[in-house]
Amino acid sequence: MQEPGDAAHPGHRGSLGNGFHGMVASSPRIPLWGLSREAIGDILSEYLRGPGLGVGRLWIIGIQRSLLLMRKQQVNVGTLLVALTMATAGEAAEVKRMDFGKADGVPVEIVELTNGSGVSAKIMTLGASIHSLNVPDRNGKSADIVLGYATAAEYLAKPQYFGATVGRYANRIRNGQFELDGKRYKLETNDGPNHLHGGLRGIDKVVWKIDSVKAGSPASVVLSHVSPDGQGGYPGTLKVTATYSLSDKNELTVEYRATTDKPTVLNITNHSYFNLAGDAGSSDILGHRLTVFADAYTPVDSTLIPTGERRNVAGTPFDFREAQTIGLRVRDGRDEQIRFGRGYDHNYVIRGQAGTLRPAARVEDPASGRVMELLTTAPGVQFYSGNFLDGTTVGKAGRIYRQGDALCLEPQVFPDSPNQPDFPTARLDPGQTYTNTMVYRFSTSR
Ligand code: GLA
Repeated sequence: MQEPGDAAHPGHRGSLGNGFHGMVASSPRIPLWGLSREAIGDILSEYLRGPGLGVGRLWIIGIQRSLLLMRKQQVNVGTLLVALTMATAGEAAEVKRMDFGKADGVPVEIVELTNGSGVSAKIMTLGASIHSLNVPDRNGKSADIVLGYATAAEYLAKPQYFGATVGRYANRIRNGQFELDGKRYKLETNDGPNHLHGGLRGIDKVVWKIDSVKAGSPASVVLSHVSPDGQGGYPGTLKVTATYSLSDKNELTVEYRATTDKPTVLNITNHSYFNLAGDAGSSDILGHRLTVFADAYTPVDSTLIPTGERRNVAGTPFDFREAQTIGLRVRDGRDEQIRFGRGYDHNYVIRGQAGTLRPAARVEDPASGRVMELLTTAPGVQFYSGNFLDGTTVGKAGRIYRQGDALCLEPQVFPDSPNQPDFPTARLDPGQTYTNTMVYRFSTSR
Protein backbone atom coordinates (compact mmCIF):
# COMPACT_ATOMS: atom_id res chain seq x y z
CA MET A 1 0.00 0.00 0.00
CA GLN A 2 1.30 3.42 -0.91
CA GLU A 3 0.46 5.54 2.10
CA PRO A 4 -0.76 9.03 1.26
CA GLY A 5 2.25 11.27 0.84
CA ASP A 6 4.55 8.25 0.63
CA ALA A 7 5.77 8.71 4.18
CA ALA A 8 8.79 6.45 3.71
CA HIS A 9 10.19 8.78 1.05
CA PRO A 10 9.01 12.28 1.89
CA GLY A 11 11.38 13.92 -0.58
CA HIS A 12 10.64 11.54 -3.39
CA ARG A 13 10.48 13.41 -6.63
CA GLY A 14 7.35 11.48 -7.55
CA SER A 15 5.37 12.52 -4.46
CA LEU A 16 3.58 15.51 -5.80
CA GLY A 17 1.45 18.05 -4.07
CA ASN A 18 -1.69 19.61 -5.46
CA GLY A 19 -1.28 22.01 -8.33
CA PHE A 20 1.07 19.70 -10.17
CA HIS A 21 0.26 19.47 -13.86
CA GLY A 22 2.76 17.26 -15.64
CA MET A 23 5.78 15.18 -14.78
CA VAL A 24 8.03 12.76 -16.51
CA ALA A 25 10.02 9.94 -15.01
CA SER A 26 11.95 7.35 -16.94
CA SER A 27 11.69 3.62 -17.26
CA PRO A 28 13.43 0.74 -19.04
CA ARG A 29 12.22 -0.43 -22.43
CA ILE A 30 14.11 -3.50 -23.55
CA PRO A 31 16.39 -6.19 -22.16
CA LEU A 32 20.03 -5.02 -22.30
CA TRP A 33 23.25 -6.94 -22.67
CA GLY A 34 21.91 -10.18 -21.33
CA LEU A 35 20.29 -8.51 -18.34
CA SER A 36 16.76 -9.69 -17.75
CA ARG A 37 14.00 -7.14 -17.82
CA GLU A 38 13.37 -7.96 -14.15
CA ALA A 39 17.03 -7.31 -13.24
CA ILE A 40 16.96 -3.91 -14.97
CA GLY A 41 13.62 -3.22 -13.32
CA ASP A 42 15.10 -3.98 -9.88
CA ILE A 43 18.15 -1.80 -10.51
CA LEU A 44 16.02 1.04 -11.75
CA SER A 45 13.53 0.89 -8.95
CA GLU A 46 16.48 1.24 -6.54
CA TYR A 47 17.65 4.14 -8.66
CA LEU A 48 14.24 5.80 -8.72
CA ARG A 49 13.80 5.33 -4.99
CA GLY A 50 16.57 7.87 -4.32
CA PRO A 51 15.41 11.14 -2.76
CA GLY A 52 14.74 14.07 -5.07
CA LEU A 53 18.01 15.92 -4.73
CA GLY A 54 18.75 16.58 -8.37
CA VAL A 55 19.76 14.35 -11.22
CA GLY A 56 23.49 14.23 -10.37
CA ARG A 57 22.86 13.24 -6.77
CA LEU A 58 20.20 10.78 -7.92
CA TRP A 59 22.74 9.07 -10.11
CA ILE A 60 25.20 8.71 -7.25
CA ILE A 61 22.59 7.48 -4.79
CA GLY A 62 21.06 5.25 -7.43
CA ILE A 63 24.44 3.71 -8.22
CA GLN A 64 25.27 3.29 -4.53
CA ARG A 65 21.97 1.56 -3.89
CA SER A 66 22.41 -0.58 -6.97
CA LEU A 67 25.88 -1.85 -6.05
CA LEU A 68 24.45 -4.49 -3.75
CA LEU A 69 22.02 -5.61 -6.38
CA MET A 70 24.80 -5.67 -8.97
CA ARG A 71 26.81 -8.02 -6.79
CA LYS A 72 23.81 -10.24 -6.27
CA GLN A 73 23.05 -10.33 -9.98
CA GLN A 74 26.68 -10.24 -11.17
CA VAL A 75 26.22 -7.13 -13.26
CA ASN A 76 29.31 -5.04 -14.07
CA VAL A 77 29.51 -1.26 -13.70
CA GLY A 78 29.56 -0.69 -17.48
CA THR A 79 26.33 -2.54 -17.93
CA LEU A 80 24.73 -0.69 -15.09
CA LEU A 81 25.74 2.69 -16.56
CA VAL A 82 24.35 1.69 -19.95
CA ALA A 83 21.10 0.62 -18.30
CA LEU A 84 20.82 3.90 -16.43
CA THR A 85 21.65 5.94 -19.53
CA MET A 86 19.09 4.04 -21.57
CA ALA A 87 16.63 4.56 -18.80
CA THR A 88 17.03 8.30 -18.60
CA ALA A 89 16.93 8.63 -22.39
CA GLY A 90 14.28 5.95 -22.85
CA GLU A 91 10.57 6.13 -23.37
CA ALA A 92 8.98 8.25 -20.66
CA ALA A 93 6.68 6.90 -17.96
CA GLU A 94 4.47 9.81 -17.12
CA VAL A 95 1.92 10.92 -14.61
CA LYS A 96 -0.27 13.79 -15.75
CA ARG A 97 -3.16 15.60 -14.13
CA MET A 98 -5.89 17.26 -16.17
CA ASP A 99 -9.25 18.89 -15.56
CA PHE A 100 -12.35 16.92 -16.59
CA GLY A 101 -15.25 19.32 -16.20
CA LYS A 102 -17.64 19.28 -13.27
CA ALA A 103 -20.08 16.92 -11.58
CA ASP A 104 -22.83 18.60 -9.54
CA GLY A 105 -20.74 21.78 -9.71
CA VAL A 106 -17.64 20.09 -8.24
CA PRO A 107 -14.50 20.08 -10.44
CA VAL A 108 -13.44 16.62 -11.60
CA GLU A 109 -9.86 15.69 -12.45
CA ILE A 110 -8.21 12.88 -14.35
CA VAL A 111 -4.80 11.46 -13.44
CA GLU A 112 -3.17 9.62 -16.30
CA LEU A 113 -0.65 6.90 -15.46
CA THR A 114 1.55 5.79 -18.35
CA ASN A 115 4.19 3.07 -18.23
CA GLY A 116 7.16 2.44 -20.51
CA SER A 117 5.49 -0.53 -22.20
CA GLY A 118 2.64 1.22 -23.97
CA VAL A 119 -0.10 0.94 -21.32
CA SER A 120 -1.87 3.99 -19.93
CA ALA A 121 -4.75 4.39 -17.50
CA LYS A 122 -6.85 7.47 -16.88
CA ILE A 123 -8.18 7.56 -13.33
CA MET A 124 -11.05 9.97 -12.71
CA THR A 125 -11.73 11.55 -9.30
CA LEU A 126 -15.50 11.18 -9.81
CA GLY A 127 -16.14 7.78 -8.27
CA ALA A 128 -12.38 7.00 -8.18
CA SER A 129 -13.05 5.45 -11.58
CA ILE A 130 -11.03 4.01 -14.42
CA HIS A 131 -12.05 6.32 -17.25
CA SER A 132 -9.90 4.74 -19.95
CA LEU A 133 -7.29 2.04 -20.24
CA ASN A 134 -5.09 1.81 -23.31
CA VAL A 135 -3.49 -1.56 -23.95
CA PRO A 136 -1.55 -2.80 -27.01
CA ASP A 137 -2.76 -5.74 -29.11
CA ARG A 138 -0.51 -8.50 -30.46
CA ASN A 139 0.82 -6.11 -33.13
CA GLY A 140 1.53 -3.36 -30.63
CA LYS A 141 -1.53 -1.34 -31.64
CA SER A 142 -3.11 0.35 -28.66
CA ALA A 143 -6.85 0.62 -27.95
CA ASP A 144 -8.95 1.79 -25.06
CA ILE A 145 -10.48 -1.39 -23.61
CA VAL A 146 -12.96 0.02 -21.07
CA LEU A 147 -16.35 1.64 -21.51
CA GLY A 148 -16.98 5.15 -20.25
CA TYR A 149 -18.51 8.54 -20.97
CA ALA A 150 -16.98 11.55 -22.71
CA THR A 151 -18.03 13.96 -19.95
CA ALA A 152 -18.17 13.83 -16.15
CA ALA A 153 -21.82 14.98 -16.08
CA GLU A 154 -23.00 11.87 -17.96
CA TYR A 155 -21.67 9.61 -15.20
CA LEU A 156 -24.25 11.14 -12.85
CA ALA A 157 -27.04 11.52 -15.40
CA LYS A 158 -26.93 7.93 -16.72
CA PRO A 159 -25.36 5.74 -14.08
CA GLN A 160 -24.02 2.46 -15.39
CA TYR A 161 -21.08 2.36 -12.94
CA PHE A 162 -18.59 2.50 -15.83
CA GLY A 163 -15.12 1.97 -14.32
CA ALA A 164 -16.38 3.09 -10.93
CA THR A 165 -15.44 2.28 -7.39
CA VAL A 166 -18.75 1.02 -6.06
CA GLY A 167 -19.94 0.84 -2.46
CA ARG A 168 -20.49 1.12 0.34
CA TYR A 169 -22.02 -2.25 -0.53
CA ALA A 170 -21.37 -3.26 -4.12
CA ASN A 171 -24.00 -5.64 -5.54
CA ARG A 172 -27.33 -6.38 -3.83
CA ILE A 173 -28.76 -6.46 -0.33
CA ARG A 174 -32.17 -8.11 -0.05
CA ASN A 175 -34.99 -5.60 0.49
CA GLY A 176 -32.32 -3.02 1.40
CA GLN A 177 -32.22 -4.28 4.99
CA PHE A 178 -29.83 -6.01 7.32
CA GLU A 179 -29.31 -6.53 11.01
CA LEU A 180 -26.12 -5.80 12.91
CA ASP A 181 -25.71 -6.40 16.65
CA GLY A 182 -29.50 -6.67 17.03
CA LYS A 183 -30.26 -3.41 15.25
CA ARG A 184 -32.07 -3.29 11.89
CA TYR A 185 -30.69 -0.92 9.24
CA LYS A 186 -32.69 0.30 6.24
CA LEU A 187 -30.94 1.25 3.02
CA GLU A 188 -32.31 2.76 -0.17
CA THR A 189 -33.97 0.30 -2.53
CA ASN A 190 -32.85 1.27 -6.01
CA ASP A 191 -33.04 -2.07 -7.85
CA GLY A 192 -36.60 -3.38 -7.67
CA PRO A 193 -37.10 -4.44 -4.06
CA ASN A 194 -33.35 -4.50 -3.37
CA HIS A 195 -30.44 -2.23 -2.59
CA LEU A 196 -27.76 -2.07 -5.32
CA HIS A 197 -24.23 -0.62 -5.38
CA GLY A 198 -24.58 1.65 -2.32
CA GLY A 199 -27.90 3.22 -3.32
CA LEU A 200 -28.76 6.46 -5.04
CA ARG A 201 -25.61 8.30 -4.05
CA GLY A 202 -23.01 5.61 -3.60
CA ILE A 203 -19.28 6.31 -3.49
CA ASP A 204 -19.24 6.13 -7.32
CA LYS A 205 -21.17 9.43 -7.47
CA VAL A 206 -18.92 11.59 -5.32
CA VAL A 207 -15.71 13.37 -6.26
CA TRP A 208 -12.79 11.82 -4.39
CA LYS A 209 -9.75 13.73 -3.15
CA ILE A 210 -6.32 13.13 -4.68
CA ASP A 211 -4.00 12.34 -1.76
CA SER A 212 -0.82 11.71 -3.73
CA VAL A 213 0.52 11.05 -7.18
CA LYS A 214 3.77 9.20 -7.78
CA ALA A 215 5.76 8.77 -10.98
CA GLY A 216 8.18 5.92 -11.64
CA SER A 217 7.53 2.21 -11.77
CA PRO A 218 4.89 1.65 -10.60
CA ALA A 219 3.29 5.01 -11.25
CA SER A 220 0.44 5.50 -8.83
CA VAL A 221 -2.33 7.70 -7.53
CA VAL A 222 -4.02 7.52 -4.13
CA LEU A 223 -7.58 8.83 -3.85
CA SER A 224 -9.60 9.14 -0.67
CA HIS A 225 -13.17 9.73 0.42
CA VAL A 226 -14.95 9.99 3.76
CA SER A 227 -18.51 8.69 3.79
CA PRO A 228 -20.33 10.21 6.79
CA ASP A 229 -22.08 8.16 9.48
CA GLY A 230 -25.57 7.29 8.25
CA GLN A 231 -24.85 7.94 4.55
CA GLY A 232 -27.43 6.00 2.53
CA GLY A 233 -28.51 4.31 5.78
CA TYR A 234 -25.12 2.71 6.58
CA PRO A 235 -23.73 3.02 10.12
CA GLY A 236 -20.26 4.43 10.80
CA THR A 237 -18.02 7.10 9.33
CA LEU A 238 -16.18 5.23 6.58
CA LYS A 239 -12.73 6.42 5.48
CA VAL A 240 -11.85 4.85 2.15
CA THR A 241 -8.74 5.00 -0.02
CA ALA A 242 -8.32 3.73 -3.56
CA THR A 243 -4.75 3.23 -4.81
CA TYR A 244 -4.18 2.69 -8.50
CA SER A 245 -0.66 1.62 -9.57
CA LEU A 246 0.59 0.83 -13.05
CA SER A 247 3.79 -1.22 -13.33
CA ASP A 248 6.13 -1.68 -16.26
CA LYS A 249 4.99 -5.30 -16.29
CA ASN A 250 1.60 -4.11 -17.55
CA GLU A 251 -0.20 -4.70 -14.30
CA LEU A 252 -2.79 -2.25 -13.09
CA THR A 253 -3.32 -2.82 -9.38
CA VAL A 254 -6.28 -1.41 -7.52
CA GLU A 255 -6.25 -1.54 -3.76
CA TYR A 256 -9.18 -0.45 -1.62
CA ARG A 257 -8.75 0.13 2.11
CA ALA A 258 -11.30 1.35 4.61
CA THR A 259 -11.78 1.98 8.32
CA THR A 260 -14.90 2.76 10.34
CA ASP A 261 -15.76 4.30 13.71
CA LYS A 262 -18.81 2.03 14.28
CA PRO A 263 -19.49 -1.58 13.31
CA THR A 264 -20.71 -1.60 9.70
CA VAL A 265 -20.93 -3.73 6.55
CA LEU A 266 -19.15 -2.98 3.31
CA ASN A 267 -18.14 -4.42 -0.03
CA ILE A 268 -16.06 -2.19 -2.29
CA THR A 269 -15.13 -3.18 -5.81
CA ASN A 270 -14.24 -1.80 -9.19
CA HIS A 271 -16.96 -1.95 -11.82
CA SER A 272 -14.98 -1.61 -15.06
CA TYR A 273 -16.64 -2.78 -18.25
CA PHE A 274 -14.05 -4.47 -20.47
CA ASN A 275 -14.07 -5.05 -24.19
CA LEU A 276 -10.61 -6.27 -25.19
CA ALA A 277 -11.34 -5.50 -28.85
CA GLY A 278 -11.55 -1.81 -27.95
CA ASP A 279 -14.25 0.60 -26.84
CA ALA A 280 -14.29 2.37 -30.20
CA GLY A 281 -14.52 -0.86 -32.22
CA SER A 282 -17.60 -2.64 -33.49
CA SER A 283 -17.34 -6.01 -31.79
CA ASP A 284 -19.06 -7.18 -28.64
CA ILE A 285 -17.50 -9.52 -26.05
CA LEU A 286 -19.41 -12.64 -27.07
CA GLY A 287 -16.35 -13.93 -28.93
CA HIS A 288 -14.05 -13.38 -25.93
CA ARG A 289 -12.82 -16.52 -24.21
CA LEU A 290 -13.24 -16.56 -20.44
CA THR A 291 -11.75 -18.70 -17.72
CA VAL A 292 -13.05 -18.34 -14.15
CA PHE A 293 -11.00 -20.04 -11.46
CA ALA A 294 -14.02 -21.28 -9.55
CA ASP A 295 -15.77 -24.62 -9.05
CA ALA A 296 -18.98 -23.09 -7.72
CA TYR A 297 -21.18 -20.05 -8.06
CA THR A 298 -23.97 -18.60 -5.94
CA PRO A 299 -27.34 -19.04 -7.73
CA VAL A 300 -29.93 -16.28 -7.34
CA ASP A 301 -33.68 -15.73 -7.19
CA SER A 302 -35.53 -13.76 -9.87
CA THR A 303 -34.46 -10.44 -8.25
CA LEU A 304 -30.80 -11.54 -8.38
CA ILE A 305 -30.45 -12.14 -4.63
CA PRO A 306 -28.43 -15.30 -3.81
CA THR A 307 -30.44 -18.22 -2.47
CA GLY A 308 -27.56 -19.09 -0.13
CA GLU A 309 -26.52 -22.17 -2.10
CA ARG A 310 -23.06 -22.73 -3.52
CA ARG A 311 -23.73 -24.65 -6.71
CA ASN A 312 -21.16 -26.75 -8.56
CA VAL A 313 -20.57 -25.33 -12.06
CA ALA A 314 -20.02 -28.76 -13.62
CA GLY A 315 -22.49 -29.50 -16.41
CA THR A 316 -23.99 -25.97 -16.40
CA PRO A 317 -23.52 -22.89 -18.63
CA PHE A 318 -21.59 -21.47 -15.65
CA ASP A 319 -18.65 -23.82 -16.12
CA PHE A 320 -15.67 -21.64 -17.11
CA ARG A 321 -13.04 -23.84 -15.43
CA GLU A 322 -11.57 -24.26 -18.90
CA ALA A 323 -11.60 -21.29 -21.30
CA GLN A 324 -15.01 -20.98 -23.01
CA THR A 325 -16.37 -18.57 -25.59
CA ILE A 326 -18.82 -16.36 -23.69
CA GLY A 327 -21.42 -16.20 -26.47
CA LEU A 328 -21.84 -19.97 -26.68
CA ARG A 329 -24.10 -20.30 -23.64
CA VAL A 330 -25.11 -16.74 -22.75
CA ARG A 331 -28.53 -17.30 -24.37
CA ASP A 332 -29.12 -20.76 -22.95
CA GLY A 333 -32.76 -20.22 -21.98
CA ARG A 334 -33.09 -23.79 -20.68
CA ASP A 335 -31.11 -22.67 -17.64
CA GLU A 336 -33.25 -20.73 -15.15
CA GLN A 337 -30.22 -18.90 -13.78
CA ILE A 338 -29.33 -17.57 -17.23
CA ARG A 339 -32.96 -16.48 -17.62
CA PHE A 340 -32.94 -14.66 -14.26
CA GLY A 341 -29.74 -12.81 -15.17
CA ARG A 342 -30.69 -12.25 -18.84
CA GLY A 343 -27.29 -13.81 -19.35
CA TYR A 344 -24.47 -13.91 -16.83
CA ASP A 345 -24.88 -11.76 -13.72
CA HIS A 346 -23.62 -14.09 -11.01
CA ASN A 347 -21.08 -14.35 -8.24
CA TYR A 348 -18.40 -17.04 -8.44
CA VAL A 349 -16.68 -18.60 -5.43
CA ILE A 350 -13.01 -18.11 -6.31
CA ARG A 351 -10.76 -21.08 -5.58
CA GLY A 352 -8.21 -20.72 -2.80
CA GLN A 353 -7.93 -18.64 0.32
CA ALA A 354 -9.68 -15.27 0.44
CA GLY A 355 -7.26 -12.62 1.67
CA THR A 356 -4.43 -13.94 -0.50
CA LEU A 357 -3.86 -12.65 -4.00
CA ARG A 358 -4.77 -15.48 -6.41
CA PRO A 359 -6.13 -15.86 -9.95
CA ALA A 360 -9.85 -15.17 -10.33
CA ALA A 361 -10.33 -14.97 -14.10
CA ARG A 362 -8.63 -14.73 -17.47
CA VAL A 363 -10.16 -13.15 -20.57
CA GLU A 364 -8.79 -13.40 -24.08
CA ASP A 365 -9.91 -11.71 -27.26
CA PRO A 366 -8.74 -14.13 -29.98
CA ALA A 367 -9.02 -11.43 -32.67
CA SER A 368 -6.73 -8.78 -31.15
CA GLY A 369 -4.74 -11.22 -29.01
CA ARG A 370 -5.27 -9.06 -25.91
CA VAL A 371 -5.33 -11.07 -22.70
CA MET A 372 -6.39 -9.84 -19.28
CA GLU A 373 -5.76 -11.83 -16.14
CA LEU A 374 -7.53 -10.81 -12.95
CA LEU A 375 -6.06 -11.63 -9.56
CA THR A 376 -7.73 -10.68 -6.31
CA THR A 377 -7.82 -11.13 -2.55
CA ALA A 378 -11.65 -11.10 -2.53
CA PRO A 379 -13.64 -14.29 -1.86
CA GLY A 380 -15.88 -13.86 -4.93
CA VAL A 381 -16.11 -12.30 -8.35
CA GLN A 382 -19.30 -11.15 -10.08
CA PHE A 383 -19.30 -11.98 -13.78
CA TYR A 384 -21.73 -9.66 -15.55
CA SER A 385 -22.10 -9.90 -19.34
CA GLY A 386 -23.38 -6.34 -19.85
CA ASN A 387 -27.02 -7.44 -19.99
CA PHE A 388 -28.51 -4.07 -19.10
CA LEU A 389 -26.67 -2.12 -21.80
CA ASP A 390 -29.67 -1.36 -23.95
CA GLY A 391 -28.54 1.04 -26.64
CA THR A 392 -29.69 4.14 -24.76
CA THR A 393 -26.19 5.38 -23.87
CA VAL A 394 -23.45 6.70 -26.11
CA GLY A 395 -19.88 6.06 -25.04
CA LYS A 396 -16.80 8.28 -25.08
CA ALA A 397 -15.85 7.20 -28.62
CA GLY A 398 -19.33 8.06 -29.94
CA ARG A 399 -20.52 4.49 -30.04
CA ILE A 400 -23.89 3.24 -28.73
CA TYR A 401 -23.52 0.58 -26.06
CA ARG A 402 -25.70 -2.48 -26.62
CA GLN A 403 -26.21 -5.69 -24.69
CA GLY A 404 -23.02 -7.77 -24.55
CA ASP A 405 -20.75 -4.91 -25.60
CA ALA A 406 -18.64 -5.41 -22.49
CA LEU A 407 -18.17 -7.65 -19.49
CA CYS A 408 -17.53 -6.88 -15.85
CA LEU A 409 -15.54 -8.98 -13.41
CA GLU A 410 -16.12 -7.46 -9.99
CA PRO A 411 -14.01 -8.89 -7.13
CA GLN A 412 -16.19 -8.76 -4.00
CA VAL A 413 -17.61 -10.46 -0.95
CA PHE A 414 -20.70 -12.36 -2.00
CA PRO A 415 -23.92 -10.43 -2.70
CA ASP A 416 -26.32 -10.05 0.24
CA SER A 417 -23.69 -11.35 2.71
CA PRO A 418 -25.13 -9.30 5.60
CA ASN A 419 -28.26 -11.50 5.37
CA GLN A 420 -26.50 -14.78 4.63
CA PRO A 421 -24.90 -16.39 7.69
CA ASP A 422 -23.00 -18.94 5.55
CA PHE A 423 -21.33 -16.38 3.31
CA PRO A 424 -17.96 -14.73 4.04
CA THR A 425 -18.56 -11.80 6.36
CA ALA A 426 -18.92 -8.22 5.13
CA ARG A 427 -18.61 -6.80 8.64
CA LEU A 428 -16.00 -4.21 9.58
CA ASP A 429 -15.37 -3.12 13.17
CA PRO A 430 -13.56 -0.06 14.50
CA GLY A 431 -9.83 -0.78 14.73
CA GLN A 432 -9.89 -3.13 11.72
CA THR A 433 -8.80 -2.25 8.18
CA TYR A 434 -10.78 -3.56 5.25
CA THR A 435 -8.79 -4.31 2.10
CA ASN A 436 -9.74 -5.53 -1.35
CA THR A 437 -6.93 -5.81 -3.90
CA MET A 438 -7.27 -6.58 -7.58
CA VAL A 439 -4.60 -6.87 -10.24
CA TYR A 440 -5.43 -6.58 -13.94
CA ARG A 441 -2.48 -8.07 -15.80
CA PHE A 442 -2.25 -7.49 -19.55
CA SER A 443 -0.41 -9.52 -22.18
CA THR A 444 -1.05 -10.86 -25.67
CA SER A 445 -1.53 -14.29 -27.19
CA ARG A 446 -0.41 -15.36 -30.66
C1 GLA B 1 -23.76 -5.28 -11.51
C2 GLA B 1 -25.05 -5.97 -11.29
C3 GLA B 1 -25.86 -5.92 -12.53
C4 GLA B 1 -26.08 -4.49 -12.96
C5 GLA B 1 -24.76 -3.82 -13.14
C6 GLA B 1 -24.94 -2.36 -13.41
O1 GLA B 1 -22.90 -6.00 -12.25
O2 GLA B 1 -24.89 -7.30 -10.84
O3 GLA B 1 -27.07 -6.56 -12.34
O4 GLA B 1 -26.83 -3.83 -11.99
O5 GLA B 1 -24.00 -3.97 -11.97
O6 GLA B 1 -25.84 -2.11 -14.43
